[in-house]
Amino acid sequence: MAAVTAYDRLRDRLPARPARWLVTGCAGFIGSHLVETLLRLDQTVVGLDNFVTGHRRNLDEIRDAVTPAQWGRFLFAEGDIRQADDCREACREIDYVLHQAALGSVPRSLADPMATNAANVDGFLNMLVAARDAGVKRFVYAASSSTYGDHPALPKVEENIGNPLSPYAVTKLVNELYAGVFARCYGLASIGLRYFNVFGPRQDPEGAYAAVIPRWARAMLLGGEVSINGDGETSRDFCFVANAVQANLLAATAENPEAVNQIYNVALNERASLNTLFAMLRDALLEHRPGSRVADPVYRDFRAGDVRHSQADVSRAARLLGYAPTHRLADGLRVAMPWYVSRFSEAAGLACGSPP
Ligand SMILES: NC(=O)c1ccc[n+]([C@@H]2O[C@H](COP(=O)([O-])OP(=O)(O)OC[C@H]3O[C@@H](n4cnc5c(N)ncnc54)[C@H](O)[C@@H]3O)[C@@H](O)[C@H]2O)c1
Repeated sequence: MAAVTAYDRLRDRLPARPARWLVTGCAGFIGSHLVETLLRLDQTVVGLDNFVTGHRRNLDEIRDAVTPAQWGRFLFAEGDIRQADDCREACREIDYVLHQAALGSVPRSLADPMATNAANVDGFLNMLVAARDAGVKRFVYAASSSTYGDHPALPKVEENIGNPLSPYAVTKLVNELYAGVFARCYGLASIGLRYFNVFGPRQDPEGAYAAVIPRWARAMLLGGEVSINGDGETSRDFCFVANAVQANLLAATAENPEAVNQIYNVALNERASLNTLFAMLRDALLEHRPGSRVADPVYRDFRAGDVRHSQADVSRAARLLGYAPTHRLADGLRVAMPWYVSRFSEAAGLACGSPP
């Protein structure tokens, strides 16, 4: 029998201890999973989003996944973290902040560094000030593996970072610096979670800045071209979204003082090459829809600025938070596949479940 984890114990305990949580970026990919999990645990959740990259349909999916009573404990505030008043209003009477709202994507930040800075730095600072003034118990925020920049060591350990390689990476590093200063100067208890390539249902497959897994799933299901930048041996530590949710809930509620005001890697400490990822995604599709036809990938030039390999040492999160990932890459792809199928079957006007 599997050992009982810190997360199992937390999920047993939380429904009897309802708290008020604020999830910024609640209509986005990771934020929507945080909201859904918290509502399922009978928590009260305030959600803040301006829909710049998030979608109302993600909120609709949460509504359909929880009970009416749980949905009744969700309070959505349409607002913008670049506006100090919106942050202040959202933080009122909040116990725990899970701050996800930001403009993601390295290429987007290279195209428009001002927009990325406004959301990710100005918005972040607004949220820190609002959380401090509201006296929240904990401020957990989405940091990023991009902070490792050009540091060559593998696996990545939290204290060894290199030079940032993009405006996006600068903003995420600045978040960590500001959170540290707010801890030292104002006593705001925070935890930064450096996510590594998170994936799962509701990750946006559309647009120029879509992440690799939903982009490939879309191409496989709609008969488009799967293109691989470089030789396919570039590797990443792909992290299923349930593992990121777990890290957030453990970070928010951690009572060990040594665990607070820290940064943690969130992934698996496993590496998959893009070639391996392609094969696993195709297998997940064939398992779900036997008979599907998937064309071989097309190899293109390496993309400027991409690091060759990435892999997280997650021992600090395991030791101080009790983090124990529940889903490896193949598990996560298996869970996510029905969502991709349903999403793209709708798009292509196909009946769910039948081969393309
Ligand atoms: N997905 C990953 O692999 C990954 C990796 C590292 C870090 N992160 C970080 O995790 C967080 C969540 O990422 P995601 O993948 O869910 O992205 P996402 O784009 O799906 O979600 C971000 C949400 O924030 C909202 N938002 C953006 N700017 C806002 C603003 N000014 N005011 C209010 N809301 C705003 C968007 O509308 C969206 O709903 C981000 O901070 C991102 O930088 C993600």
